Amino acid sequence: MNDYEGMCDKAAELIVQSIKKNPAISMGLATGATPVGVYKRLVNDHKKNNTSYDQLSAYNLDEYIGLQKSDINSYHYFMYNNLFKHININKNNCHLPDGMAADLYKECSRYESMINSIGGVDIQLLGLGENGHIGFNEPGTAFSSVTHLVKLEEKTRKVNGRFFQSFKDVPAHAITMGISTILRSKQIILLVSGKNKSLALAECLNGKISPKLPASALQLHGNVKIIADKEALEIYRYTIRN
Ligand code: GLP
Repeated sequence: MNDYEGMCDKAAELIVQSIKKNPAISMGLATGATPVGVYKRLVNDHKKNNTSYDQLSAYNLDEYIGLQKSDINSYHYFMYNNLFKHININKNNCHLPDGMAADLYKECSRYESMINSIGGVDIQLLGLGENGHIGFNEPGTAFSSVTHLVKLEEKTRKVNGRFFQSFKDVPAHAITMGISTILRSKQIILLVSGKNKSLALAECLNGKISPKLPASALQLHGNVKIIADKEALEIYRYTIRN
């Protein structure tokens, strides 16, 4: 795609088509800056064309530990404000890990079992971290991992710190779907935008599969669509030319 806008158009179009085909679809959803434009388009389409979400169920990838749902930096808040409150989704069908659960280990197994019970989501939307993470699966995470607690890398906290008042407010831990949870999805759409993701994307596309680069696990999945803009593809383009 030429740019971010084109990427979002394409991803939203694919999602809307899939919902029309199967209104009871299960969607794995992502947070971060990248999917915001896609959610905007889904909301506009819902308003304009009445695409209905009343049978759809949503399962988010991850959540910070220690942030209230009402905290503007929690992923609960993000999803509600960017998508859920604008569409006719049943709020009981909106699932995110609970980062405030009294027993976080139990919460991880509850979340994993829920996804297991539907046999993995139908479509998983993913963003890419600058260090190659997917969800909050940091470099070194086993490909066999299921929903688990993670200690966030300093780099991830710094990058995500742009949304917080100060670095010290960025939680150090999160709950994330594991890599095997993600790979159980029937289809995956990976969205990648911007120069800062170019190296991670090139490494993913260059064939090496290693836990050092969590997103490289996607090469083990048979149905992945990568929607990226020119800037994100810059290094990859250079490597195939040379
Ligand atoms: C966070 C999220 C990821 C997301 C990544 C990239 O760390 N846990 O799911 O893909 O950020 O975010 P952005 O789209 O803002 O670059």
